[in-house]
Amino acid sequence: MLGSGGREHALSWKLAQSHAIANEGGQLFACPGNPGVAQFATCFEMDVTDHELVLAFCEQERIALVVIGPEAPLVDGLADSLRAEGLAVFGPSQAAAQLEGSKGFTKDLCARAGIPTAGYVRATSLGQARAALDGFSPPYVLKADGLAAGKGVVIAETRPEAEVALDDMFGGAFGDAGAEVVIEEFMTGEEVSFFVLTDGATILPFGTAQDHKRVGDGDTGPNTGGMGAYSPARVFTPELRAEAMQKIVAPTVRQMADDGVPYSGVLYAGLMLTSEGPKLVEYNARFGDPECQVLMMRLEDDLADYLYACATNALASMPPPRFSSDVALTVVMAAKGYPGTPEKGGLIVLGDAEADGAVVFQAGTVLDEDDGTLRASGGRVLNVTARGADVQAAQAAAYAAVDKIDFASGFCRRDIGWREVARG
Ligand code: AMP
Ligand code: GLY
Repeated sequence: MLGSGGREHALSWKLAQSHAIANEGGQLFACPGNPGVAQFATCFEMDVTDHELVLAFCEQERIALVVIGPEAPLVDGLADSLRAEGLAVFGPSQAAAQLEGSKGFTKDLCARAGIPTAGYVRATSLGQARAALDGFSPPYVLKADGLAAGKGVVIAETRPEAEVALDDMFGGAFGDAGAEVVIEEFMTGEEVSFFVLTDGATILPFGTAQDHKRVGDGDTGPNTGGMGAYSPARVFTPELRAEAMQKIVAPTVRQMADDGVPYSGVLYAGLMLTSEGPKLVEYNARFGDPECQVLMMRLEDDLADYLYACATNALASMPPPRFSSDVALTVVMAAKGYPGTPEKGGLIVLGDAEADGAVVFQAGTVLDEDDGTLRASGGRVLNVTARGADVQAAQAAAYAAVDKIDFASGFCRRDIGWREVARG
């Protein structure tokens, strides 16, 4: 498994429970992993942009399945290099990962396949982008085309703000990712995350969740990678799910196959539930982080079986995955300063946070080599995750665990799940 965040801790926690690992003597390797992952996997460092090196490792260890957690190696074509040598890889090809790697690619695909999404214009120069603003009204949604670590989207309330943001993007604020910009119509509604597994032909729904992107309580302050999540997203009713599958996800998978770039892996649709029905906000070519953590807490089937079937074009032989009827909720504990510059090195004492069934997935942590203490090493540091019969119970259990953790230089939102709690 490749990756180092809370998502990868959750994946390795669940993979370790798979029969191949738990009963059949299989072994899990993680590159680079983190101290949480290291409870389940042999962690090691390797430059994953060196595809020959990754191949050599996989051959030496006779790796049966490669699970690629984050988007960067996918967009870099690692899955292609490994598949070319006959390895089973969970994750899309470089061409298919453009669904996440290029917002313009995805918007054009939606236009061709008639998929509901915000109206848009692609612009490759500042002049073109400024002129295109005429066709939109505030708030303006401006997106750097390429991967920008979740920071490439600006929602500008006024035209002057939009112009400054465009200056920044074309001025290189997001590097190459901003060489092209997509300007979009603003959509209103509630956002949900919808996950499916697909091998390019069969599509299996793989859970729903709601993320909390803003850093502050009540959804205030700057955007982050996600401050907490819960699953399932009840607001995304079975009827809405069926509509999203029929109008958004299935036509996408079909169009990709028709275009000769079949998509294989997990497809994460960020959806806006608008008054006109679900519309696509964006696709990601990987599991959400922290959404993956709540999905894994609820998944009752063998994760390795599903990922392997996906990697080997055998999803048609798998039954729909089963998820617990419980609600799972995760609270992200971040280092002070996040999403700006987080404080590094803060001491973390987990204590008995997991005593009542909660699971603390680690994201930005390191073990201090001198004294063996756990230290913060990134923005999002811990994902404190619990289950309950309803969202209130899951929320209470997650915060009870949070309150047992000693992390003086950390903070968290105190209202994860608030929309669902308010629905009663
Ligand atoms: P993205 O990285 O594309 O998910 O965008 C980050 C966030 O910006 C999304 O989660 C939405 O909250 C918001 N956003 C993106 N596109 C739109 C849009 N067209 N209308 C309204 N909000 C949007
Ligand atoms: N939690 C949002 C993401 O993974 O992109």
